[in-house]
Amino acid sequence: LPHLFLLLPLAGCSGWQSALDPRGSTAEELHGLFWLFTITCTAVWGAVLLVLAAALWRRRHPAGISEAQQARSERRSGVAIGAAVAATVVIITGLTFASYLATRGIAEEHPEALTIRVRGYQWWWEVLYADSAPHRAFLTANELHLPVGRPVRLELATADVIHSFWVPNLAGKQDMIPGRENVLVFTPREPGTYRAQCAEFCGIQHAHMALRIVVEAPADFERWREAQIAEAAPPMTPEEEAGRQVMESKACGACHTVRGTAAAGTLGPDLTHVGGRQTIAAGMLPTTRGSLAAWIADPQTVKPGNNMPMVPLTAEELQAVSAYLARLR
Ligand code: CUA
Repeated sequence: LPHLFLLLPLAGCSGWQSALDPRGSTAEELHGLFWLFTITCTAVWGAVLLVLAAALWRRRHPAGISEAQQARSERRSGVAIGAAVAATVVIITGLTFASYLATRGIAEEHPEALTIRVRGYQWWWEVLYADSAPHRAFLTANELHLPVGRPVRLELATADVIHSFWVPNLAGKQDMIPGRENVLVFTPREPGTYRAQCAEFCGIQHAHMALRIVVEAPADFERWREAQIAEAAPPMTPEEEAGRQVMESKACGACHTVRGTAAAGTLGPDLTHVGGRQTIAAGMLPTTRGSLAAWIADPQTVKPGNNMPMVPLTAEELQAVSAYLARLR
């Protein structure tokens, strides 16, 4: 059991949501700074304890000393105090300078950066891949795809309250504040799937506001992007066609968009390729036909307080609409 307690503090050091396992430029800078501060402060703390222990030891064993010895001892104390003050100034100045250099490196902009706008909502993330050609821009939700090695420029905004963008393995935290836009730049260094989490309390489902970051080879990223730019594929089976009609008759399009259909609402997540995303409800459930059906049947039980209303559907309608959405890849 004692071994378990020793392992506990180390359990968070690696994995897909850990600032101590950096896989991007900004996270690397912060990781370096973290260890510099930790090691320096531990060394200072250890030195202070040693000196304190030595002083206490000498006080307990006072030797009878002459006046000349006393004067020498006071001079030595003066030198020791001077040295301690000088060391403190040097260490604090050094740490401040290292901190300044890291912050400057983190904020450096790159002209070739991929620009993505991320907007926080209670409680999900809207992601806009802008493009100079308007028909190539597209919206998605709760999932960012990034090419490895290319600088990224995230323009962070919010639709309601303050949120905070934080993907510990890559970068952050950066607040998303009403009425302004904050910018976060970083370069993902290693392919992989990372978990981002809203880092500012934003209401009762704050803990369920996660975002997947998929860092992939540039060719894979381009393939993904082309697939996202395309409109939703038409229904293939009668059931899927029935699902599309259910969405129309129940006015799902008042809040959601499915490009290529009549649904063009902007209040909720864009569903054009929802079936191809890893999760629904901002990281709560894996995207399967079953979880889509569970979500639509009773979103307030899955994630109480969110803005998705419960739409009364028959069992057949629920089956059909989840089949249709699962196919939107
Ligand atoms: Cu959004 Cu916490």
